[in-house]
Amino acid sequence: FNVPKAYNEVVKSYAPGTPEREEVKKAFAELYNSTVDIPLYIGGEEIRTGNTKNLFPPFDHQHHLGVYHTADKALVEKAIVTALEARKKWSAMAWEHRASIFLKAAELLAGPYRAKINAATMIAQAKTVHQAEIDAACEFIDFLRYNVEYMTQVYAQQPASSEGIWNRVEHRPLEGFVYAITPFNFTAISGNLPSCVAMMGNVVVWKPAATQIYSAQVIVEVFKKAGLPDGVINVVYGDSGMITDTILDNENFAGIHFTGSTGVFNDFWGTIGKNISKYKTYPRIVGETGGKDFVWAHPSSDAKEVATALSRGAFEYQGQKCSAASRAYIPASLWEEVKNFVIEDVKSFKMGSPEDMSNYISSVITEGSFDKLAKAIDAAKASSEAEIVVGGGYDKSKGWFIEPTVILTSNPKYDTMERELFGPVLTVYVYEDAKWEESLKLVDETSNYALTGAIFSQDRYVIEIATKALENAAGNFYINDKPTGAVVGQQPFGGARGSGTNDKAGSVLNLLRWVSPRTIKETF
Ligand code: SER
Repeated sequence: FNVPKAYNEVVKSYAPGTPEREEVKKAFAELYNSTVDIPLYIGGEEIRTGNTKNLFPPFDHQHHLGVYHTADKALVEKAIVTALEARKKWSAMAWEHRASIFLKAAELLAGPYRAKINAATMIAQAKTVHQAEIDAACEFIDFLRYNVEYMTQVYAQQPASSEGIWNRVEHRPLEGFVYAITPFNFTAISGNLPSCVAMMGNVVVWKPAATQIYSAQVIVEVFKKAGLPDGVINVVYGDSGMITDTILDNENFAGIHFTGSTGVFNDFWGTIGKNISKYKTYPRIVGETGGKDFVWAHPSSDAKEVATALSRGAFEYQGQKCSAASRAYIPASLWEEVKNFVIEDVKSFKMGSPEDMSNYISSVITEGSFDKLAKAIDAAKASSEAEIVVGGGYDKSKGWFIEPTVILTSNPKYDTMERELFGPVLTVYVYEDAKWEESLKLVDETSNYALTGAIFSQDRYVIEIATKALENAAGNFYINDKPTGAVVGQQPFGGARGSGTNDKAGSVLNLLRWVSPRTIKETF
């Protein structure tokens, strides 16, 4: 298979005086000072139903960005029929032609669309320019490039033949359509979930999170510009329950590619189970769900390294990465030093609108999220088992701003050690140095999630013991590094237990879920 070798897009600096800084500033101002009217996108047609919902940036809830149109049941059905119609040609298209569309999309994102997709992500999801760049530009581009390479690795998986017999496997698209449901927190994931499915010859009905529609429209634009045929990816917005029920009720439903909460994913399994005899084929159910990602440090670790992993791992993008550290286990001998470094770091983080590029963090995504976090912070303030080490403030007068907050607890099973909050709140439990091995058990048993986790030690025996003790506790496991920032092509991403089906995003394993192979034996 002759395909361009995949490589990681280089992260641009956006330092003062750089051209990329000027470009993204301009794109931000243009978007921010105009209003959008975002249609549904079905069969290449823009559909404006007149049933609209308003869009506001999370860091300024009085600034009207425009509206998006919502679908009714008939339009969701139309999206399905349109996808199935497009499947006739798309599923038969030679892989090179599918691949080249997505490689072109990567080049558009790397060049002419970079500023726009970053600015849209800054506005819609309250990301700083750096957080937008590593997501909407680099990670998304990397997904497209690497998946094209992985696609050829899927096709290359062929059986042996023998004398007078030629065995071969055709990695065919699924028979039906796939439902992609994407989250707000990564524009890259939003782009990847429908596109990697489509790349394998499948057709898709895609529902982005309501809080990401504003940047999802740029993804739609890029795919169109790259030459994706009409009807291959159809985009619907609106009532999640109705859209999902309509899709899961359809006999041609062939799979779901999901990133979102564990509860929602569990509901899908239930509905799919109930409907199972309706479907022509057993649907593929692929999902990345919640997390309660940990940092564990041994007394032999470097306090400064641990502190940086905590302040960056827990608070960059306001703790809203699926990979963000949210519980930490620190030995007593290290705690004072770690604590002081973390406090110093956190106090240096400027918080505000992403438009001001000196800000390091911004607001959380919605009022619902704000309220949940504020409540957990208040509970910690009132609890005899917890104290606030740093942060603890919140303010929703302009946007949904929560200060990066560290809670120290004397109870390793304290509420916020166990419960996913998805925001800038880190809970720390300090253990006695001598009990470091027992503390590993706590890490493993406190949560049923297993997405990311990090351990710190300078002692190789300890590293070996901890790696073994936590073998099922994280799908992405970091030794002496923060638990965020997986790079496509380098650390395939995904978790097990309550964190998902672990079909690593950006991997051959994931793409294999989107084919239904036919084995052909031909005898001469
Ligand atoms: N790359 C992200 C992270 O690991 C997840 O998509 O933080």
